[in-house]
Amino acid sequence: MAMGVVLGINAVFHDPAAALVIDGAVVAAAEEERFTRRKHGKEPVPFSTWELPVEAARWCLAQAGMGAGDVDAIAYSYHPRLAAAAAGDLTADGWEDLRTLYVRRAPLFLGAALPGLDPQRVRFVPHHVAHAASAYLAAPCETSAVLVVDGRGECTSHLAGRVVDGHLQTLAMQRLPHSLGLLYESLTDHLGFRRASDEYKVMALASYGEPRWLDALRRVVRTDGGGGFVVEPIEWTTFAPRRHADDAWGAPHADLAASVQARLEEMLLSLARWLHARTGNGHLAFAGGVALNCVANARLQREGPYETIWIPPAAGDAGTALGAALFVAQQDGDRIHHLRTSALGRGWDEGALAAAILGARLPHERPARLADAVADVLARDGIVAWFQGRSEYGPRALGHRSLFADPRRAANVERLNVVKGRERFQPVAPMALLEDAADIFDGPLPSPYMLFTHRVRPEWRRRIPAVVHVDGSARVQTVDRHAEPLLAALLEAFARRTGVPVLVNTSFNTAGRPMVDDPRDALECFGSAPIDALVLGPFLLRRAACWSVAA
Ligand SMILES: [Fe+2]
Repeated sequence: MAMGVVLGINAVFHDPAAALVIDGAVVAAAEEERFTRRKHGKEPVPFSTWELPVEAARWCLAQAGMGAGDVDAIAYSYHPRLAAAAAGDLTADGWEDLRTLYVRRAPLFLGAALPGLDPQRVRFVPHHVAHAASAYLAAPCETSAVLVVDGRGECTSHLAGRVVDGHLQTLAMQRLPHSLGLLYESLTDHLGFRRASDEYKVMALASYGEPRWLDALRRVVRTDGGGGFVVEPIEWTTFAPRRHADDAWGAPHADLAASVQARLEEMLLSLARWLHARTGNGHLAFAGGVALNCVANARLQREGPYETIWIPPAAGDAGTALGAALFVAQQDGDRIHHLRTSALGRGWDEGALAAAILGARLPHERPARLADAVADVLARDGIVAWFQGRSEYGPRALGHRSLFADPRRAANVERLNVVKGRERFQPVAPMALLEDAADIFDGPLPSPYMLFTHRVRPEWRRRIPAVVHVDGSARVQTVDRHAEPLLAALLEAFARRTGVPVLVNTSFNTAGRPMVDDPRDALECFGSAPIDALVLGPFLLRRAACWSVAA
């Protein structure tokens, strides 16, 4: 049995990240933004392709007690040979050649950034193979079909395949410029949001609109009968005026979002049915940035041909660091271990947390019954920042770097959106114990990574208004009490006080910032936002009485 150390790197488009796989098991994975505090790590432009997830990579190695010289292979989630042939002009085609040149130089950049690393050991993994591997190799269940849908890789935007004897067999790929992910990104930009970042806002806005341009979109966005699709150029202003970041949105914007969202869902259903017809089995592994669209995922589960759909928590480009590493580890003969958690980032022991609190000279307690003490604050309508264990890999806070609130009060959506500087129309999500979830929510369960929306059962809608979106849906995270005993204790303590076994859970960060990662980020965020209590491991810090700052 081969035993190897593989460092995975995503650096090409956005969300640079690193992952470390040892003997087929992931030991660390993190996004660069959590270290540099720059949301999404870098600008999504060709000039930034040289920027590597250096801090994330260094930390992954340190976490394993290794140096760069110990790495057997570096798996880089993009293959320059698959990119369009060089035009001889670095500026041509949106600087595409510059991107490819930087990728070719990546081994040297990596060797310079991580002294001791052997540039010869860098292996390029096709972008969509890396996405696919992040799903079919990491899935904790048997999967037979694999679907990847994103903005773009080297020259494609989609992959459909199947797993044969543990290995990927590709059945269809869609070449650029046709891209469902780029279609959605382009709409995101037209609606005044940040491209390759705020697509989830478009998804939320869609719930406020009617898909009245669905027929028009069906004519220009359509499948080709061979597992691929066509996306013709679309002039968005035909449907709704361009919105700028600070403008109010109107019905045409919401209707356009609803129309594109509906067409995306139909397209995913068609692609999934085509794939199912060729593979027959009922288990799908799904990844790529589009797989973060939890409304579409829920419809795919509800109306599509698959019994189970497994999506990795880092389904976007950050996850290709792990996918590429798993793929290379398997190539080298390692048996791949399934993913058990998204908590693959940094963690601190009690002593380090105490030192951070003492360093800030903040009053704190160490309650004997932490869950009860925190539930008291929540039941009295406090907002609690919760920092426990290792941070999450992927865009969702799953109870390790979370903000919690009482779901019984609708006004808490607005309170949290103020803390986070989010749009008012954005929903916040519920967290519930797995055994309680089916009584309250209708949809795919378990849902440990918050990648599907659920219908809130009618009898619960008025009891937990803060987590019910305008269309009656909620994006639930289910908590397995064996995997997350402290979260389970908190949910139970809150239920004992309120009769409601649900908490509002949103990511612990303020406007425009990545999720907090280290204790200092947490203290800074607590110090600058209207959060009532901060929990750092076993310690509880309460907001002091408020003095007026008026002159
Ligand atoms: Fe991608």
